[in-house]
Formats: sequence, structure tokens, C-alpha cells
Amino acid sequence: NEDLNLNELIGQMTLDEKIAQLIQLAVPFYEGAQESGLITGPMASLGIDEATVHNSGSVLGMAGAQEVINVQRTHLGHNRHGIPLLMMADIVHGFKTIFPVPLAIGCSWDLELAERSAEIAAKEASVSGVHVTYAPMVDLVRDPRWGRVVESTGEDPYLNAEFGRAFVRGFQGEDLASDKDRVAACVKHFAAYGAAEAGRDYNTVDLSDRQMREFYLPAYKAALDEGCEMVMTSFNTIDGIPATGNAKLMRKLLREEWGFDGILISDWGAVKELIAHGIAADESEAALKAIKAGVDIEMMTSCYVKHLSELVEQGEVDEALIDEAVLRILTLKKKLGLFDNPYRAADPEREREIVFCDAHRRTARELAVKSAVLLKNEGTLPLGREGNIALIGPFATSGDVLGPWSWTGSKEEAVKLADGVRSKLAGSSAKLLVAEGCDIETATAAQWQAALAAAQAADTVVLALGEHSDMSGEAGCRADIRLPEIQLELIRQIKSLGKPITIVLFNGRPLDLHGVIEEADAILEAWYPGSEAGNAVADLLFGDANPSGRLTMSFPYSVGQVPVYYNAYNTGRPQGAPDAQVRYVSQYLDIPNEPLLPFGFGLGYSEFEYGTARLSSELMTADKPIEVTVTVRNKGSVEGTETVQLYVRDLSGEVVRPVKELKAFRKVSLQPGESREISFALEEKQLRYYHSDLTHASDAGDFIAYVGSSSKTNEALPFRLAK
Ligand code: IFM
Repeated sequence: NEDLNLNELIGQMTLDEKIAQLIQLAVPFYEGAQESGLITGPMASLGIDEATVHNSGSVLGMAGAQEVINVQRTHLGHNRHGIPLLMMADIVHGFKTIFPVPLAIGCSWDLELAERSAEIAAKEASVSGVHVTYAPMVDLVRDPRWGRVVESTGEDPYLNAEFGRAFVRGFQGEDLASDKDRVAACVKHFAAYGAAEAGRDYNTVDLSDRQMREFYLPAYKAALDEGCEMVMTSFNTIDGIPATGNAKLMRKLLREEWGFDGILISDWGAVKELIAHGIAADESEAALKAIKAGVDIEMMTSCYVKHLSELVEQGEVDEALIDEAVLRILTLKKKLGLFDNPYRAADPEREREIVFCDAHRRTARELAVKSAVLLKNEGTLPLGREGNIALIGPFATSGDVLGPWSWTGSKEEAVKLADGVRSKLAGSSAKLLVAEGCDIETATAAQWQAALAAAQAADTVVLALGEHSDMSGEAGCRADIRLPEIQLELIRQIKSLGKPITIVLFNGRPLDLHGVIEEADAILEAWYPGSEAGNAVADLLFGDANPSGRLTMSFPYSVGQVPVYYNAYNTGRPQGAPDAQVRYVSQYLDIPNEPLLPFGFGLGYSEFEYGTARLSSELMTADKPIEVTVTVRNKGSVEGTETVQLYVRDLSGEVVRPVKELKAFRKVSLQPGESREISFALEEKQLRYYHSDLTHASDAGDFIAYVGSSSKTNEALPFRLAK
């Protein structure tokens, strides 16, 4: 309905009707809903009346074509202006076809496949009636204690920005208005939610403006530059002011400086939480601060609907602020075509055809294969299809392989590891022995004995271990990030039998791998691989696929190092050679400074040899980029994919600069014996950074380029930037 004049429509609405558009409610509030939908926060009584629900603007966590059609139809019967509801939900890494968790997708370094996964998620969600997904989550993460690292693509601002863009392209496509198989994206959580102190969820964040701009903000900005329709606030404070009431962050930076004119939604309950944070005395002040900060939709609390109208009457809030917020909401509804067809793509028949179809599952399998990271291999992998293979551990037969944001996925329908391995061994002479050994944190004597017996009878043992999916995700923080003790004990006991051990890990964060890495002959980090978990892991274990994932978040040596990340500053007293016996340097007395496994690291079944890298020139100017070239050869006997990574260090800046920063990468697939020359153009704008006055510029001076297979690469290529 191109002719619909939204300002005229707003002009016909009462103040209360307008304010009701600004509340977002969960499914149980709506007449006609059969399911309770997704509940992702405290369900306190909101004390709102029927009229508010009838005029409300959007729903949280509803999906299912028929359900959406029913609720929308009933709602339109109650709404005198015929304003449809926007259906929003967390479609984070798949709808029914569940892809690996975002941290795993990050480890694929595969932007095209990441985009395709979001496109599939959008298609399945859209036909099931969803209009907006609360994704991508692009919070930069450095602390694996924080449960939500599982939702991020990792610790690097450049990579997170690239993935943020890819996900937005996948969700929204080129034209949201005409392409009904897409959904609007909502980038979150603005801002710097990943920097919660001590890795405890919802905790304080206190960063300098420079840190924010340099590390934390680029990925949100990239998502918006890609056209992302919405932004969600974060729960944390920024410099003493919670994001949801932070006018400097939202009005000044997001709206004025970045020019964002889409919908800004609070996180669940975050408006009312301004009271607990201690910047609002009551709900009225919370509403005042949030609307002034620029928050359009209040998710699951009722400060706006209860207090905005009196705040307008008292002259505290200009009604124009409310009109602006309503206009943004109605604009998205119009763009999505909801005034013409309030059911949009919701279609029960098509839903049955599309959702969880074979083609989507094939992509899920491919991405799961590419997301897994081989952390260790002393020659045990790939496994042969012969002899007795014992598959032991709580994840041998578990469907808990989807990850914490997969509410519409089915654990029952996920491919369990034992099933994936069984189909891989069909027709071979190998015998598969399966035993749980223990649950995630406990064991029965019978489980334990069966596991030891299976291991005893085996030629090789695969241990499928990890964290329950509730041990990460929102409010899923851990102070001790080792595997639960019972699983470590299982490793020890099986190790004592002297059989080769391969450990497959299913978990949502980098773990402290002590007790695992020394004992295992091989370790495959599978993360939560999604619906096709068992098939994808079996492909890798038996060499039908060659592991190619690379870590995008460092695995700490121990939790005492956290936060530990590759792009850190040098300090005035860097450690130097770790074994030098010197005291007054920046180091621990009891553990190394370096993480156990660094950013960019990952093994495969082929080995790659790097030739001597070279620069096209040692002098760069603003209009003369340089080229970094290296030859990579597959020394192995199977085809493999290497991720060639380019890092830069700025040796002297106006402010201190990280010891390495990822600037570019290239994935290259090589046949055995094949070599390829890889070139990266490196230009002046890639050397810019935020100065102390927040200007973004480069400085003339000396730099080092590094190219190699992980952030540990040390082949230094010095060059100069001249101005
Ligand atoms: O989208 C989520 C957010 O990431 C955390 N709190 C609840 C929201 C809606 O489910």
C-alpha cells in the first residue's frame, strides 16, 4: 500500500494508542495463541489492560504459520486502525534447520556460507510467520567465562564486522520489501555487552571511548552500513549509564553521528532495569530516560504504557518523540508489506515443504564440517573403518548439539554422533561400541562400567564430551571453564587402558583444556554443530572431510589469564623470551602469558608450507598501496583448505597499538602437492585507528606485516607509511 500516509495515520491515533505501539509483549498476552512461544526473561505481571494489548505494536517469540495467522487475524479484529503486529523472534543460527552456533560459524571464516545460513534461517522463519530476527549478535568477546561468547563470532573487530555484514545480507537480502523469504535483522547488543566485567552476565562495562570505537563498535556499524533495519540495546552500563538510558550512546552516537533512523528496541526488561541499575527512581523516570535516549520499543516491561502519557501532559516528554518512535515502527511494518498482507509469507503448506528440508540440512552439514576446529592430532585421525571403535561419553547419543539459541530446533531430530558414525561405518568391517560413561556432571556405576568395558574391547576410543547447552548462552556464565570433573575422570580412567583417544568436544566457549589436551591423542572442537551434528563430525573423524576451522577466540592457558586475546597491547615491560629468568616484566610467575591455543589456530589432515613472504614495496603512501604475497603449498596427501591470514603491527602510534591486528584473510583449497600464490593489497586506510581525540587516521611511520596460518605467525615484513 504505497499510498498509505503514515503521518496521517499517526494523526488519527490517540496518545494512548501511539504509546501502545511502543510496547513489545511475549506470546502469552495474545488471544488466539496456542503455544507459549519463546520466553527469554522474567515473566513478571505487567499490570496492563486489554486495550494496551489490542493496540500493542509487536510480539516477541512467536512462530508457526497457523499460529501467526490466527493471532494476527484476532488482533486486527480488535485494532480500530487495522495496524498489524510485527512478529519478532530470536532466529540466531537457524530456525528449524539449526546451523552451528555463531562462535563456530566464526571459526569457519566462511562469509559466503555464513550468509547462506542466514538466508535459509530467514526463509524458514519467514514462511513460519516471523518478520524480524533479533540477530546478528556482533558483541566482541574476550572472556570465555561469559556464557554469551557462544553467540558471537569472536574476539576480532574486523572479522566480527565481516560476519555481521554477511548475516545481515543473508537475513534481509537485497530488497526486504519485495522478497518475502527474508526477514528484517536487528543487530545487538548495543553496545559492548561482551565486555561485562569478570565475564558475569549483565555486569558493568566501563570502557574508554577509544576502546569502544576501536574494538567494540565496528561490527555494529558494519551491520548498519549493510542496511540492518533495527538495533537492540544492551543490558550493561557504558561509563556509568546503562545503554538503555544512555543518550550519549543512542541519540548522539547511534542516531546523530551514524545517522541510524530505524527502530531501536530495548532488551527484555531493560527499561525497567534502569531502576535496579540506579539511574531511575521509579518506572516513570525509567520511561523518561529511555525515550529521551532514543529507545522506540520497550520489550516486556510497561514503563512506557504506564507513564509516557502523563510525562507528555506534564511537559517532560515532547509528544514529537513518541510520534517519531511510532513512525519508525509503522515504517518497518509498511516496508515489510504488512498493511497489504498482514500475514506476509506465513503459509502452513509452504512451511511444511520448506522448513527442515533436505537442501537446508545439506548446508547445515557443510557449515558444521567447516566450523569444527582440529586442536590436536598425533596421527590418530582420521580414523580407519576397521576394528573395534568405542564411542563413549555424554555426547555419544545426545541430541543436545543445537546450542542455546535454537528454540525452534528439535533435539530429537538432530543427528546424534552415534548415528552419524554408524552410518559412516555401514558396510565396513568396523564394529561400533557405544556407551555414555557419564552424564554431563554425574555418573552411575553402571554407566561407568559399561564405558570401561567398551574401551577395554576397543582398538581406538572416541570420547564425546562437553558442556550442557545451558552451561553457556544468556545467564550461562561459568567461573571454572574446565570440563566438569566427572568427564575429566572419565578421560583419566580410559587413558589408563592405553588405547588411542580422540576427544570430540561439544561446548559453547573456549575451555581450559588442562586434563584434556595432555591426555588425548586428538581433539576435535565441534562446538554445537546443529541439526546435522553427527553426520558432520563423522565426516571429519573418518576423513571424508578435512578439518579446516580456525579459532576466532583464544583458548586460555587457564582461567587466571582471562581476558586473553591476540590483539592486545605490548606494555612497557613486555615479557620477551618466556624462559628468561627476569623479574620486572609483565608476566605470570606460574603460567605463560600466551593462551594455550591462539586466535587463528587450527589443524587439518594436510600440512601447509609457507614460502618466504614478500612485499611489493617497503614504502606505502596514501595513493600507493603495497602488496603482500606468499606462496602456500599443500604438503599433505589429501586436499585441504588453508586460511591465510594477514596481520599488521603499527610500531609507533599516537596511542599504543595492538601487537597484531588482522587485516585480511583468504581461504584457499589445495590439492596434494599444489601450491598457490596469495596476494593481499594493503592500503593506507587499513592502517587508520582512533587517536586520543577520537579522530580516525593513520600516522606516518614504521609497520610490520605478518602473513601466516595463525596470529602466532612471526615472519616479519617491515614497511613504512609516508605521508
Ligand atoms: O534477543 C534476546 C536478547 O539477546 C537477550 N534477551 C532477550 C532477547 C529476546 O529474546
